[in-house]
Amino acid sequence: MLNVTLAAGAGRRQLGGMNEFTLDKVRLCAGGPMVGRQGFGAMGINTAYYGRTDASEARATLEQALSLGITLFDTADAYGNGANEEFLAPFLAAHRDDVTIATKFGLDNEKPGIFNDPAYIRAAAERSLRRLGVDHIDLYYMHRRDVSVPIEETAGVMAELVTAGKVLHLGLSEVTADELRAAHSIHPIAAVQSEWSLFSRDIETGVVPAAAALGTALVPYSPLGRGVLTGAVPSLQGLEAGDVRHAMPRFAGGNDRANHDLLAPLREIAAAHEATPAQIALAWLHTRQDVFGLPVVPIPGTRSRGRVIENAGGALITLAADELARLDPLAAQVAGDRYADMSFTSAGRE
Ligand SMILES: NC(=O)c1ccc[n+]([C@@H]2O[C@H](COP(=O)([O-])OP(=O)(O)OC[C@H]3O[C@@H](n4cnc5c(N)ncnc54)[C@H](OP(=O)(O)O)[C@@H]3O)[C@@H](O)[C@H]2O)c1
Repeated sequence: MLNVTLAAGAGRRQLGGMNEFTLDKVRLCAGGPMVGRQGFGAMGINTAYYGRTDASEARATLEQALSLGITLFDTADAYGNGANEEFLAPFLAAHRDDVTIATKFGLDNEKPGIFNDPAYIRAAAERSLRRLGVDHIDLYYMHRRDVSVPIEETAGVMAELVTAGKVLHLGLSEVTADELRAAHSIHPIAAVQSEWSLFSRDIETGVVPAAAALGTALVPYSPLGRGVLTGAVPSLQGLEAGDVRHAMPRFAGGNDRANHDLLAPLREIAAAHEATPAQIALAWLHTRQDVFGLPVVPIPGTRSRGRVIENAGGALITLAADELARLDPLAAQVAGDRYADMSFTSAGRE
C-alpha cells in the first residue's frame, strides 16, 4: 500500500483504505485544452538528472498520475537526448485521447547551444513526432530563446506547424514579457513554462502579469525547487555523482544547507495541515491563479507513485492568509542564482 498524507479537501475520497481523488480541470487558454490543474514533469523518470531510475516504477508512476486526473505530461527533446520522449511513447499510445503531451525544441544535446531558426525547428518537430509516436504534438514549446533569431521569426515557423496540423498549441519557456508579447502578436501563445516556486519568484514582476493580460497560462517548472522545498535534500552529500544539482548555484558552495534551513515555516504550516512540505509548496503555487488571474498548472516531477499521489494532494489544500504571509519572504532569502548562466532565463534578459 502506498503511504501518503493527504489534506482533507474537495475531491478527496477514500477507497479500499487508500486515498484516492481526481483533480479538477482547468482550460489552459481560450480554445486550448482542458487539463488537470496539476501536471506531471517527466524529465527525470528515465534520465540521470536527479538520480538513478527504474523503468517499471516510472511506467507505474505515469499511470498513477493519469488516474489522479493529471493529464498534462511534460517532456522535451533534450531530456536524455530524445530518450525521455521515446519512453513516453507507449504510455501515449495507450492513452492518447486522455493525455495532453507537451514537448520542446531548442536545446540540443549533440551540439551545445540554443537553436531557434526555422530549419532547426522544422526538423526538431519531425524528430519529436517520431519519438513520441504521435501525429501531432498538443503543446509545443520553444525551450530556450536564441537571441540571434527574432522571436517573431521563431513564432512564425511554430505557427506554420500549427497550420500543418503537426502542433495544436504553442508555448514558450523562459521568455521575457516583451518576447511573449512579440510572439503572441504572430500567433496566440497558450502557455509560458518558466521556473516558479516559493524559492523562484522573479517572473512575478513582468512575465506573469503579461501572460495574464494575453490570456496565456503559466506552467511552473521545478515547482518544488528541484526537490529542496520538499525537505528531502538537506545537502548535496546524499545526491548521486551524476545529479545535475551538483552544478547548480543554489546547491553548491554551502547554499544547499543555507536554503534547506529556510524551510522552517513550510514545515510548520505543513504540520498544521497534516500535510507535507511538498504539498504546501504546491498549494502555494495554486494560490497564484487567483492572485494573478490566470491558469497556473505546475508540473512537479517524481520517479515514484507515492510521491505523485502526495504531490497531487497539494492541489487540494487551501492556505490561510496568515500562512501565505509567512511564506511570502522566503524567495528573497534564497542563496544562489537559479542557473550558473542566467542569460538563458527571462530574468537574465529583462
Ligand atoms: N522548461 C525548462 O527549462 C525546464 C527546466 C527544468 C524542468 N522542467 C520541467 O519541469 C518538471 C519539474 O521540474 P523538476 O523536475 O526540475 O523539479 P521539481 O519538480 O521541483 O523537483 C523534482 C525533484 O523533487 C523530488 N520530489 C518530487 N516530489 C517529491 C516529494 N513529494 N518529496 C520529496 N521529493 C520529491 C524528485 O525526486 P524523486 O524522483 O525521488 O521523487 C526530484 O528530485 C521537469 O520534469 C520538466 O518536465 C522544465
